[in-house]
Amino acid sequence: MTLTLDSLNHPTSSSPTQLDLVLNGKKVPLHIGQNILFSDSFGTIIQNLSKNIIIVTDRHLNQIYGKKVKYFLEKSFNLTVQIIEILPGEEQKTRKTKEFIEDEMFKRGMGRDTLLIAFGGGVVLDLASFTASTYLRGIKLILIPTSLLAMVDASIGGKGGVNTPFGKNLIGSFYHPEYVFIDPSFLDTLPKKEFLNGLAEIIKYALITSKDLFDELYEKKSKLDLNELICRSLLIKKEIVEKDERDNGIRSILNFGHTIGHSLELLEDFELSHGEAISLGMIFASFLSLKKKFLEMEDFLKIFSLFKMYNYPLLLSQKVSWKRIGHTLSLDKKAENKNPRFILIEKIGKIAPTPDNKVLHRVEVDELKSSLIWFCNRFVSKKESYARHY
Ligand code: GLY
Repeated sequence: MTLTLDSLNHPTSSSPTQLDLVLNGKKVPLHIGQNILFSDSFGTIIQNLSKNIIIVTDRHLNQIYGKKVKYFLEKSFNLTVQIIEILPGEEQKTRKTKEFIEDEMFKRGMGRDTLLIAFGGGVVLDLASFTASTYLRGIKLILIPTSLLAMVDASIGGKGGVNTPFGKNLIGSFYHPEYVFIDPSFLDTLPKKEFLNGLAEIIKYALITSKDLFDELYEKKSKLDLNELICRSLLIKKEIVEKDERDNGIRSILNFGHTIGHSLELLEDFELSHGEAISLGMIFASFLSLKKKFLEMEDFLKIFSLFKMYNYPLLLSQKVSWKRIGHTLSLDKKAENKNPRFILIEKIGKIAPTPDNKVLHRVEVDELKSSLIWFCNRFVSKKESYARHY
């Protein structure tokens, strides 16, 4: 069944749903369904792509699924499967880990016919797809996201990359997989922190494109249907990425809340999750939108209360100051002459266009400074040591 907004509202079948991303004539099918990983259709698709498989995953997932997937693909589909394991955590998303994966692949004699399966959260997906894009100038890739965050963001759009000490995702490539398999059953035991991590991106989709989705998140807190939220997020991201694959225009709206969010992650040495960082970033971008008189106070307060309602910790350590944020912002990918530019909203579900009908707003230095001072006064902890509660 092909995924459309209509089919979401009127599901007719429990078989996997397919959503095709079409970029420059290349079709990237996304299969969404329960227990896909051990299905015959999955095995057959892999078998048709290559006989030599390398799975890149993290230690935790390898312990749970590594042997089982290897056994399934080798025994039932006569494939050769090797696994490369990395340590979990954002701090692994470096040039060094990419080099480690490449060297392991060379040592194991992986040639151009290799199919790389990236199996994990955003870190694994971003790292492995960047590696696949450069290994022997490019090998086939499959993505299997296992976290809510990766399902609704990294799984779609072809952005692979690594962090550097100068900023997040500053080195990378656009490279699309042959297939993406999204299996919501990986989320059956989703811890609260991981739920909030992914939900932040779903809230972002609502704030930039859909008041309906925002209202649903606001009103149905205890009755959220994760499968439906994943599918709605994928449909929104698909539409944006298909219009602007290379992120030269409209795709920047996906960066709502990320300008400051990335700085916060870096300043907090990645002890702050991506979801927490962009939640604070979205509150900041909404505050800027309010200050620039795009957004009404009523909407601003509603946005703030949504994050409070889901119990986002909204707390920063004393490592963060307005001056330090200001410095890291000047290195942001979307900065122009070192001046950061922001995605702003004019109401819930609608981006504010710039006077020349673009989407990235310049903000005067004084306005940025006073907003950062408000932000740090409001969210930086007054205590030297504290714990974030979920
Ligand atoms: N995560 C932002 C993008 O894919 O453009």
